[in-house]
Amino acid sequence: MPDRLPDDGRFLKACRGEATDATPVWFMRQAGRYMPEYRALRATHSLLELCHEPALAAEVTLQPVNRLGVDAAILFADILLPFEPLGLGLSFATGEGPHIARPIRDVAAVNQLPELEPEAALAYVLQAVRLAVSQLPPGIPLIGFAGAPFTLASYAIEGGATRSFALTKRFMYEQPAAWHRLLGKLADFVGRYLAAQAAAGARALQLFDSWVGCLAPADYREYVQPHSSHALDLAGAGGVPLIHFGTETGGFLEDFAAAGGDVVGVDWRVPLDVAWQRIGARAIQGNLDPVACLAPLPVLEGKVRDVLARAAGRAGHIFNLGHGVLPETPVEHLQRVVELVHGA
Ligand code: CP3
Repeated sequence: MPDRLPDDGRFLKACRGEATDATPVWFMRQAGRYMPEYRALRATHSLLELCHEPALAAEVTLQPVNRLGVDAAILFADILLPFEPLGLGLSFATGEGPHIARPIRDVAAVNQLPELEPEAALAYVLQAVRLAVSQLPPGIPLIGFAGAPFTLASYAIEGGATRSFALTKRFMYEQPAAWHRLLGKLADFVGRYLAAQAAAGARALQLFDSWVGCLAPADYREYVQPHSSHALDLAGAGGVPLIHFGTETGGFLEDFAAAGGDVVGVDWRVPLDVAWQRIGARAIQGNLDPVACLAPLPVLEGKVRDVLARAAGRAGHIFNLGHGVLPETPVEHLQRVVELVHGA
């Protein structure tokens, strides 16, 4: 890890497991449709336009920092952006989520994936990192991110969202060599892409394995864990803290944590104190249920206090939701969460 800079705020300290004056907090999907200023930009620009234009991406990155008083910013981008230079054809249909025009279904498609240099293939993302970093208030670090090999592979194979992950798992079971080749390629790319984001100024990096919890523990270990480890190892060259995030990982939390990362993301299905018992002395990020943010304020406040009580003032707690902010979330509710977490 590089020398500590004087402006290291509570978020970076907590990532390193150090004590802080208050618990740091940020929210996954803190830039998005729940915020009027984001919706205003979306009225005239598509999601991909916001991502492609560094000035707009930086502007959206700063919106929740100004509005909520969170301790970290996360770059405005999407985990699926690498699919464009990989030639898979990415689009987002309103209300329907991502669509991949040329999904990967066989070994030939895996072999056709080009070898990419992140600096060239996603130059606009790295430019957005530099711009956002230059515009952020002092002491507010930028988090860079990428999709984990499994979660990216699931979109690449399914062609869009899925509930059962049937095509993904069939590919894994029927064509294990092609599967490992695909995840190896994705791990290699996202690991270098993450390190490039750190080189551009990101002070922490998050690997999103949003859907990995659909796997049985033995399948996680056999088909996924080595690739996530490889991506995190490569990202480590960036010299900044790594956050390893997944949901529904309760069935194999120890293996998920063992794959790597300085900070382990935990969702609301595992109470924080239980998570610490299971993975030992590691920094943890989480774990309020995003739906709790839709509840009446007294109910929400009770749940925030419960998360804090389970963390019990341990060093190395970063408060977050267990998954992303929902579009119907009232802005004032997130502001109240930040106040409570900082005041507790
Ligand atoms: O504020 C932030 O967190 C930074 C921006 C960010 C976006 N996507 C922008 C976005 C981040 C970190 C992501 C990650 C992402 N993208 C993940 C992993 C995190 C998670 O939520 O599990 C995944 C699975 C994706 C893929 C993706 N992008 C989906 C499934 C969707 C459609 C679902 C939806 O909410 O509409 C997107 C679109 C998307 N990416 C939006 C945003 C703000 C909403 C789109 C909009 O403005 O129309």
